[in-house]
Amino acid sequence: MSHDIAPAPASTASGTEGRIQQHRSYLMCRPEHFTVSYTINPWMEPANPTDTALAVRQWQALYDTYLALGHDVQLIDPIPGLPDMVYTANGGFVIGGIAYGAKFRYQERVPEGPAFMDWFRDNGFEVAEPVEVNEGEGDFLLVGDTILAGTGFRSTGDSHRELADVFGKEVVSLTLVDPRFYHLDTAISVLDPVQGPGGVDKANIAYLEHAFDARSQAVLAERYPDAIKVADADGAVFGLNSASDGRNVIISPRATGFEAQLRERGYNPVLVDLSELLLGGGGIKCCTLELRR
Ligand code: ARG
Repeated sequence: MSHDIAPAPASTASGTEGRIQQHRSYLMCRPEHFTVSYTINPWMEPANPTDTALAVRQWQALYDTYLALGHDVQLIDPIPGLPDMVYTANGGFVIGGIAYGAKFRYQERVPEGPAFMDWFRDNGFEVAEPVEVNEGEGDFLLVGDTILAGTGFRSTGDSHRELADVFGKEVVSLTLVDPRFYHLDTAISVLDPVQGPGGVDKANIAYLEHAFDARSQAVLAERYPDAIKVADADGAVFGLNSASDGRNVIISPRATGFEAQLRERGYNPVLVDLSELLLGGGGIKCCTLELRR
């Protein structure tokens, strides 16, 4: 009898045999109160009308996609007057049952911080209350056992130090320079977020070079020589604001170049259109917070 662990391929569809799907648990928030009533990023234009019912339908398609792929999705109740709460990625950063709470940069979103921390406590997570300004998984991405942390627009450099203290992991600071890509999750997509068999870190990313300063570009090139570099056109439609389970990568249908790059690498792109939520400056990843127990 053998104790070898040989993971079965997730699929026999051509080209995707090598990619193993991992189970995910996510937190989402139905955009029942979605609108654009203030401007805190260049995408938000309060004069343009928004269609809340359409936002809910598009969001529902993302929710249904996660369930169809076998993932768990938990929900936090939307709060009237907090239209950006649909972007749950900003609600905190969770590893090993510990939730590092968010402390939002702009007054309009500040009340979301405690609302998300209450949800974490009520659902069995230990909460690390933040001292420093940070916008959660919008700016912090776990890649293998390393946390990539964005700064420049929202989360501060001091929050990167606080983050390292909370989780005891290596934190790599990256500086964003283009206001359209104001959160790290608009400029980097984590494709294989966990360590491979035997602890070998086979995590990989996709990113938009021009969103970063020269120092950060050099750090990314050195650490991720096999990364997918996406074209500006794909970045500009929030193609990188995507969610991967190691095999299926949920992306915007408008990111056609990125879609082709993913297929070449053996991933399975799954297209979900969140055009209405882009009016608030958010996409697929923004609406998705990973809950790591
Ligand atoms: N309107 C929101 C803001 O500007 C959008 C947040 C998008 N979230 C994200 N994880 N990128 O804060």
